Amino acid sequence: MGVRSRARAHGAEPGMPEPRREPAIAAIWDDVQGCTRCPLYRNATQGVAGEGASHAAVMLVGEQPGDREDIAGRPFVGPAGQILDKALADAGIARDELFVTNAVKHFKNEPRGKRRLHKRPNAYEIDRCRWWLDKELDVVQPRVIVALGATAGRALLGRPVSITRDGATVHEMAEGPRVVITIHPSYVLRLRDEPARRSAYDTLVAALSRARDTARLPRTAARRAA
Ligand code: URA
Repeated sequence: MGVRSRARAHGAEPGMPEPRREPAIAAIWDDVQGCTRCPLYRNATQGVAGEGASHAAVMLVGEQPGDREDIAGRPFVGPAGQILDKALADAGIARDELFVTNAVKHFKNEPRGKRRLHKRPNAYEIDRCRWWLDKELDVVQPRVIVALGATAGRALLGRPVSITRDGATVHEMAEGPRVVITIHPSYVLRLRDEPARRSAYDTLVAALSRARDTARLPRTAARRAA
C-alpha cells in the first residue's frame, strides 16, 4: 500500500494540502520514505521529515512524529504542536520563518487495541537517524537549533543530556550552529498541576526567546497567552 492510501487508511483528511517544499528539502522527504536504517519504518505509516523555511536562521528539533504527525506526514501538527505554536507566538516567533523537524523520522509505537502507544526512541535509533538530520542541517544551515527534549538533545550533542543541567547554557556544535536545549512541548501537556504546567510552559517560551535573540531574529507581534 502506498503512503497516501496508508495515510487515508489511518484516517488522514482527504484533500489535505501538501506543504510546499524547496527541491532540496523535498528530496530529503522522498529519500526518508525509503529509509530502512533502523527497524522503526516497519511500524509507521510514513517517514516524517522536516518542513519550513529552507534557509531558516532557527531550526526546531523534536523527538519523533506522534500519531497525528505519522498520519499527516508533517511534524508538530498534533496536540504537542498546538502547545509549540502557542509558545512560538508568545516568544514573538513566526513558525513559517523556522525549519521544524524531529531527531527520529518514524513514529515508534506499540499497537494496543485500536491505539498506538508512543514509545521513546533508543540511543541506536537516534544515532542511526542522525544521518537525516545531518542532511537537513546541510541544506538549512541554521544559526541556532532548539532541541525540544532529551532525545533531540542527544541527537545534536551526541551524548545523553539533562534538560536541567544542559538547558542552562547555549551549546556550540563543531559545525557551527548554537544549540539551545529545553523541554519538549508534550511535557507541558502531561503536567496536571496548573502552577507546574505554567512554569514548564514559561521555560519553553524563555528558551524559544533565547534562540530568537541568539539568532538575531526580529520579534513578531507578541500574542497574549490565553
Ligand atoms: N512530538 C515530537 O517530538 N514531534 C512531533 O512532530 C510531534 C510530537
